[in-house]
Amino acid sequence: GHPINIAIDGPAGAGKSTVARLVASALRYVYVDTGAMYRAVTAIALERGIPVLDEISIGRLAEELDIRLQPDEDGQRVWTDGRDVTSMLRTHEVNRNVSQVSSYEAVRLRMAELQRRMAKEKGVVMDGRDIGTHVLPDAELKIFLTATPRERALRRFRELGDDADITLEQLEHDIAERDRMDRERAIAPLLQAPDAKLVDSTGLAIERIVDDIARWARAAS
Ligand code: C5P
Repeated sequence: GHPINIAIDGPAGAGKSTVARLVASALRYVYVDTGAMYRAVTAIALERGIPVLDEISIGRLAEELDIRLQPDEDGQRVWTDGRDVTSMLRTHEVNRNVSQVSSYEAVRLRMAELQRRMAKEKGVVMDGRDIGTHVLPDAELKIFLTATPRERALRRFRELGDDADITLEQLEHDIAERDRMDRERAIAPLLQAPDAKLVDSTGLAIERIVDDIARWARAAS
């Protein structure tokens, strides 16, 4: 069939990026992790000492920064102004500031513009918070992926492994706070699109979810 666009939205730690990456690989589609773009703006702001509450300066940074995504085996690398910043994106400091940065209109407008450009030719699996509702409202397949807060924190905790420099309770608290800010923001909040399929991944095997989504995608393409 013809390629379609697939939007995968949901709260932090629901397994969106793993699922999106595997669906993209099963369908030979391009995987786009939009959270990494907001993380890149946040990491560069922190590096430059721009206060995250300074909306004007953060907005300007988002508009000026040259952000590029490069697919690779374990997901996606992110380059800003010609530098690979992938390793800077998943620190606790970025985790704790990214929702503030993502709440600004200028930041969201710029990221959405870049994301729509990437999806223009179709054949994209895009994961984020507002893909089905705002960025790609015409996506042929929309998934809202969730899991219980405990399960989401546990998954992240296990990913950190032996060098976890944070307790499970702190992690659960950080995730809940990020979700609250993402849900309550004025512009393009985290929300299930009315035409999105709700998938609760609690206790489900990843392969099962990937198979379901790939099957729905084939049926729609
Ligand atoms: O998906 P990930 O957890 O990496 O996203 C990090 C943060 O980026 C989210 O908590 C949210 O504040 C922001 N984000 C967003 N819109 C998206 C993707 C991510 O606001 N489409």
